[in-house]
Amino acid sequence: MNRIRIRRPDDWHLHLRDGAMLNTVVPATARNFGRAIVMPNLKPPVRTVADAAAYRERILAACPAGSDFEPLMTLYLTETTSVDDIRQAAESEFVHAVKYYPAGATTNSDSGVRELERVYPVIEAMEKHGLPLLMHGEVTDSDIDVFDREAVFIERHLEKLRSTFPGLKMVLEHATTSDAIDFVQSAPGPIAATITVHHLMFNRNALFEGGLRPHHYCLPLIKRERHRQALVVAATSGNERYFLGTDSAPHPKHAKESDCGCAGVYSAPAAIELYAEVFEAAGALDRLEAFASLNGPAFYGLAPNEDTIELERTPWQMERELTADDDTIVPLRAGSEIVWRRVD
Ligand code: NCD
Ligand code: ZN
Repeated sequence: MNRIRIRRPDDWHLHLRDGAMLNTVVPATARNFGRAIVMPNLKPPVRTVADAAAYRERILAACPAGSDFEPLMTLYLTETTSVDDIRQAAESEFVHAVKYYPAGATTNSDSGVRELERVYPVIEAMEKHGLPLLMHGEVTDSDIDVFDREAVFIERHLEKLRSTFPGLKMVLEHATTSDAIDFVQSAPGPIAATITVHHLMFNRNALFEGGLRPHHYCLPLIKRERHRQALVVAATSGNERYFLGTDSAPHPKHAKESDCGCAGVYSAPAAIELYAEVFEAAGALDRLEAFASLNGPAFYGLAPNEDTIELERTPWQMERELTADDDTIVPLRAGSEIVWRRVD
């Protein structure tokens, strides 16, 4: 197959940042994606409906002329989030979910939750209002090996959450292990997982290929080959519990190439093309549309996009660096060939 037309996809996990960076990052996603679930980990975080409304306006102002890209906003769950914040979010037209970060787990997560049980009343309100809980599913205990943080989170917290709030819509964000897939595949109730393109493409060797590779450093970390294979099987299965979430997370080049580099892979500039590459390699291009364009809206209770995009098998070269205001950002697959190209 050399051409494929699919309904316009959405990105169900995206970091757009703020300020001048928006002018580079928003168009990169808006070009191909109809909507995106926008992560709230700004500094300070997006905690209230009013914060989300203001951030949404800044994102819309950075959209290219004529674009009808729709940012779907999220609130950042803190230990001071109230039941009333949840009610307001559920009543708003533009807040679609609440994001849980364990305190200290990743970029800008110091306002996150220290003890999940403390926010159970708020989670109960989310269950009642049908507002999804999006989870950064990792524990942060220093005695847990960093490659095991997701598996331990599932064991310690996810089962308990599931049985305490059986009606709660939950998304295990950026699933990286076979443990995550095993859980999501069989758990009762409304549960789903997003899967990034970099976790589908790379195993942990990519962090150390010929030397230290900071541009492959993200959280949760990329894992062993057997985990990558389990993710590919899940994503390409057509199962409605799995959908596209890039976790595209740009950082300036100097902040990644540093003695204490930031976590995050900037995949937005070729995200849908790279997912197509993964699905093609798995012999499952015919299931790309379910994963990229249908399963996500169904979970969130939204209609799929009406229009379509077309991809063609015409290789092109990704730039080595992209300019973002006064900074440069190194995209995923910098300087290398991208097999698929958006054509219409
Ligand atoms: C994200 C970021 O930079 O905001 N980084 C990452 O490695 N994925 C935060 C996150 O989603 O963990
Ligand atoms: Zn993220």
